[in-house]
Amino acid sequence: MRLFIDTADARPFIKWVGGKTQLLSEVKSSLPRDFAVRENVTYVEPFVGGGAVMFWILQAYPNIERAIINDINEELICTYHVIKEEVEGLIAALATLQNEYIPLKADARKDYFMGKRARFNTKQTDPVETAALFIFLNRTCFNGLYRVNSKGEFNVPHGKYANPRICDAENLRACSAVLQRVEILCGDFAQTGQYAGPDTLYYFDPPYKPITESSSFTSYAKGGFDDAEQIRLRDFCDRIAAAGSIFVASNSDPRDVNPEENFFDNIYQNFFIKRVSAARMINSDASGRGAISELMISNVVNA
Ligand SMILES: C[S@@+](CC[C@H](N)C(=O)[O-])C[C@H]1O[C@@H](n2cnc3c(N)ncnc32)[C@H](O)[C@@H]1O
Repeated sequence: MRLFIDTADARPFIKWVGGKTQLLSEVKSSLPRDFAVRENVTYVEPFVGGGAVMFWILQAYPNIERAIINDINEELICTYHVIKEEVEGLIAALATLQNEYIPLKADARKDYFMGKRARFNTKQTDPVETAALFIFLNRTCFNGLYRVNSKGEFNVPHGKYANPRICDAENLRACSAVLQRVEILCGDFAQTGQYAGPDTLYYFDPPYKPITESSSFTSYAKGGFDDAEQIRLRDFCDRIAAAGSIFVASNSDPRDVNPEENFFDNIYQNFFIKRVSAARMINSDASGRGAISELMISNVVNA
């Protein structure tokens, strides 16, 4: 069955570190030239995060018949389920949070935020409340970060946005329409190996390898993503490529800080690596700002 999108443009409903909105054209140019006319395509995104690539690709390519997304972050995946299945309940809950928060003065806003953060961390909330709190905290915390402590508790401080958009009903409805054709999984990326096959495209946006001490922000969820994990992902790419799948994977470029550092060039030597320019910061100090490169690794010949 071919599925068509009949919605306004759906965009990511949260800010997420590593969001790929700026790199969509690079992902597009890494796809096989005939991708748009292939039939029965399955799209798999094992580290979906904010879903910038997923929302774009499902609206741009109606020939994608089936889509599977996955992430290890349980609250994020709960939010995807609620947007898919209970979007009107979510919109009502977010409207309440917005109406309560926006009129408050700065100190009262901070107290309100801390109360909702504590409530979120009880993990006693039902799916709609969990999703509403997840989006509320994302919109009102410092820089839209997601970071948890060793107990798995969200611990990002309050941000100082004058007028954050907490309830974007139109976009949530558009996201819900796109998600109707998406299967949503929660867990380790390896569980998506079952979809490998000749008509499957995988896009990987794993937690990046930190290229400086100060950029080692990888705790989206408890655990982490060290070099051994990067190699486990490479092994997974070997397996799905051997099964005939196409894959495109993004990562940081360690050569930006050390021209001798060939970690990814070495572990992905059997595939194609393209260096693309990305407007990211290497360091938090002003001297390190500017465009750095990012890797696009693929088994597509024209990449
Ligand atoms: C760089 S982010 C993805 C960004 C996303 N593509 C976007 O556009 O916003 C990496 C994601 O991988 C998830 N993650 C970390 N370890 C994982 C694992 N072992 N399996 C699956 N997902 C994992 C994190 O929760 C996070 O959402």
